[in-house]
Amino acid sequence: MKIYIIGFMGSGKSTYGKELAEALGYAFTDLDTDIEKKAGATIPVIFKDKGEDAFRLMEQNALLETKILEDTVIATGGGAPCFFENMEWMNENGLTIYLKLFENELKARIEPVMAERPMLNGIDEDGLEDFIHKTLRKRAFYYHQAKIVIDPNLMNAKALSDVLKEGTFA
Ligand code: S3P
Repeated sequence: MKIYIIGFMGSGKSTYGKELAEALGYAFTDLDTDIEKKAGATIPVIFKDKGEDAFRLMEQNALLETKILEDTVIATGGGAPCFFENMEWMNENGLTIYLKLFENELKARIEPVMAERPMLNGIDEDGLEDFIHKTLRKRAFYYHQAKIVIDPNLMNAKALSDVLKEGTFA
């Protein structure tokens, strides 16, 4: 089975995904890292040199390439479910898990790493709250199409893996 971890920037998708993979005995991959390796450039450089539209195409390609994987947890970028038919595709090809956090928690987690996120170019710390609120409002529609929605503070990766193994997630 493939498991796609989705959620806003700063929700800890990679960390949680790695822990979940380990607990399940699955492999782990990260779409952003896959894109960077293939492009030979970091995400901020891709945004700067090629623009967001080109990045979204690369992101979709990287996602489609996960089709052949088995027993793998895949952490996706925060925007991945919200472009093209990506969310529908993930739901058809694997189990989707949305890591849902409150806006104030996202803000606290994103603030220290703002410079590494091209989506936040030109936004200062005062504008961050507004950005998160507006972007989340648009993206929530896609995120909530996930098969499982969890607050990672309430259910850690080990607990989720136990539930997935037992098949008792209700
Ligand atoms: C993006 C989130 C980033 C990365 C890119 C765009 C977004 O991934 O894919 O900077 O649109 O939210 P993370 O969610 O891992 O930060």
